[in-house]
Amino acid sequence: MTAAATAAPRTVLGLETSCDETSAAVVTAGADGVRLASCVILSQDVHQIYRGVVPELASRAHLVAVGAVADRALEDAGLGLDDVDLFAVTEGPGLVGALLVGVSYAKGLALASGTPLVGVHHLEGHLFGTALEDPAAEPPFVALLVSGGHSMLLDVPAWGIYRLLGETRDDAVGEAFDKVGSLLGLGYPGGPAIEREARAGDPTRHRFPRPMLHGGQRLGDKDYFDLSMSGLKTALIHAVRATADLDGERAHLARGFQDAVIDVLVAKTLRAVGATGHPRVVLSGGVACNQALRAALAAALAERGATLHAPSPRIATDNAAMIARAGLFRAAEAGRPVEAAARLPFPGLERR
Ligand code: KG4
Ligand code: ZN
Repeated sequence: MTAAATAAPRTVLGLETSCDETSAAVVTAGADGVRLASCVILSQDVHQIYRGVVPELASRAHLVAVGAVADRALEDAGLGLDDVDLFAVTEGPGLVGALLVGVSYAKGLALASGTPLVGVHHLEGHLFGTALEDPAAEPPFVALLVSGGHSMLLDVPAWGIYRLLGETRDDAVGEAFDKVGSLLGLGYPGGPAIEREARAGDPTRHRFPRPMLHGGQRLGDKDYFDLSMSGLKTALIHAVRATADLDGERAHLARGFQDAVIDVLVAKTLRAVGATGHPRVVLSGGVACNQALRAALAAALAERGATLHAPSPRIATDNAAMIARAGLFRAAEAGRPVEAAARLPFPGLERR
């Protein structure tokens, strides 16, 4: 198994079931680089009723869909199981029951076909996703990884080396969008809904705090790169309580919240570019879908002579293409035991 894996796989089937997307994708590596051959993403909408992901329902929905989703990814790529050189599956972090479905299915495929299997860390997957669509999204770069579960600023001098510059002290950025979305009566997930509302919002009506951001911070200070969402969330709670007409105020509140988040993310990312000297910033995770964030980051980076590399919404949110791509990088590790883990150390992560 291990020997075959180290002989540079050319076709990888990736599986992702860590949260509420059942996804399978095929990535191929050839002389002209790595190509995305197919990507199927089945989003579970059952959770919208509950305004958040219900783990047990997520596992069941994965169980029902995973086989058909994997078959469809192969079919879309015009390939059969025999053509796959490596299976890659998200082994963590995530909902353990959900992860188990993907991991068990991948193990079954690997066993039945005698093809190696490699476990992939979900966040490393997010970092690789952008490069699938944008070949310039290669290290060295600063990564701003903002999803529903994690928010990190990383110095990435090379694939596999992830120096943690800063992270959230409380909520992930996507989580804050989701909570504020719910506070504003916008349903789940909150991110896309807040972005839509904010477009019609008056940016001058609510000025919310920019948590953990002030001019007195210096490189070396603990909070120089770190993020925090809780104070901003509290400010929103107070503003919503003080509003007599939420329907009339919703767009302005959404705009005020989004502007505050964007200001913080742009400022901290610029600090990371300044500290590392990297000319590129790779944006990833579900919050990367936010067009206002992308535009603000791109403009601020352009002023510094740096470039923003952001994935399409399909690759920004959870998908198996990024897992297959990261699996290609981790191919030499095929053969080590793959186990679903709700918490999983980020491979290559170096803390300050
Ligand atoms: O990466 P992802 O699909 O799942 C995790 O690994 O967490 O990210 C999902 C998160 C959710 O919190 C969602 O609200 C947020 O990404 N999101 C957005 C937008 N689209 C999705 N946040 C802000 N603006 C958006 N347009
Ligand atoms: Zn994710």
